[in-house]
Amino acid sequence: MPDFPDKAFFTQSLLHWHSTENSRELPWKNETDPYKIWLSEIILQQTRAEQGLPYYLKFTEAYPTITDLAAAEDEVVFKLWQGLGYYNRCRNMLATARIVANDYNGVFPNTYEQILALKGIGPYTAAAIASFAFKLPHAVVDGNVYRVLSRCFGIEVSSDSTEGKVLFLELANELLPKGQSNLFNQAIMDLGATVCTPAAFKCLECPLASKCTANSLRRQSDFPVRSKKVVVKTRYFNYFLFRCGNDVWLQKRAEGDIWHNLFEPYLVETNEVANLTALLKNEHLSAIDTTKTTLAGKSSQRLTHRVIEAVFYTVDCATKPTFLPTDGWVNVKDIHKYAFPKTVADFMERIMGNASAPTLF
Ligand code: ADE
Repeated sequence: MPDFPDKAFFTQSLLHWHSTENSRELPWKNETDPYKIWLSEIILQQTRAEQGLPYYLKFTEAYPTITDLAAAEDEVVFKLWQGLGYYNRCRNMLATARIVANDYNGVFPNTYEQILALKGIGPYTAAAIASFAFKLPHAVVDGNVYRVLSRCFGIEVSSDSTEGKVLFLELANELLPKGQSNLFNQAIMDLGATVCTPAAFKCLECPLASKCTANSLRRQSDFPVRSKKVVVKTRYFNYFLFRCGNDVWLQKRAEGDIWHNLFEPYLVETNEVANLTALLKNEHLSAIDTTKTTLAGKSSQRLTHRVIEAVFYTVDCATKPTFLPTDGWVNVKDIHKYAFPKTVADFMERIMGNASAPTLF
């Protein structure tokens, strides 16, 4: 285990900075209700604090307790989640709310093991909840923490290797001050988010700079070391929004693929970029009236392992095409009740005005 700078210096300097200079204000800081802490941590998984903030406020207003959330209808909660993406988080959040409501009488469990056993909670989130809500001695270790620790201690072991994960977790737990795990964890997260950032790091403002290995070697950008490359595959989604009078046609995405249970217009997925002429060779689309088919937008959305290149067409029909199942027609005034993937939501909002904008029920 690296020993320079000494661990006491690290912890004391970080806590001092937190109590004197850390000006990051977020509503879940100093929160003691484990339900709200859990909610904030689920929202903040894969989401920047600034982006998650309005969702935290919406959810705590709509559902002040975990039993309120447990009793909510799935579709309503999905709609409130719209724009955050990674909908599995939302599904797991609902499952956990119902487990706590039913199995724990609505009282959030207070041991690390019980928290970790809930749905959608990995070691990082369990440590965050256990420390913030119950001051239990568990260090959080995420991308921010890898960066701060690897730079400061000059750790060259890659943070995405099994060996690296163990090493960083052990080091973070050794640094954790007794009875102050909540302050330490919040401080290291905030330092990583505001000072020890991936680029444009602000070493002049850093409480650890005088003993930081990366700073002294001017090698900040070399840390943390990573060995694995994320393989990103591109998928091409060609959407046709059929409109007939006041109705538009929507379908629910199936299980087993991204965005399942969210809604979308008629989709033709292709292996590469396809123009309208090529798309109209699709057995159903060959019959549509191309004079009423308009290219209405394009977008590109990056997910963790995927890029979705989406193209949107609108198709105005005098009569409803028979190949579209009749139960997919939705009156425009009801569109706001449907949850869409972000790419689709942005398009719908642009095309339909704010008829599709998320609303609080
Ligand atoms: N990211 C995850 N949890 C956080 C927290 N408690 N404060 C700031 N950013 C976070």
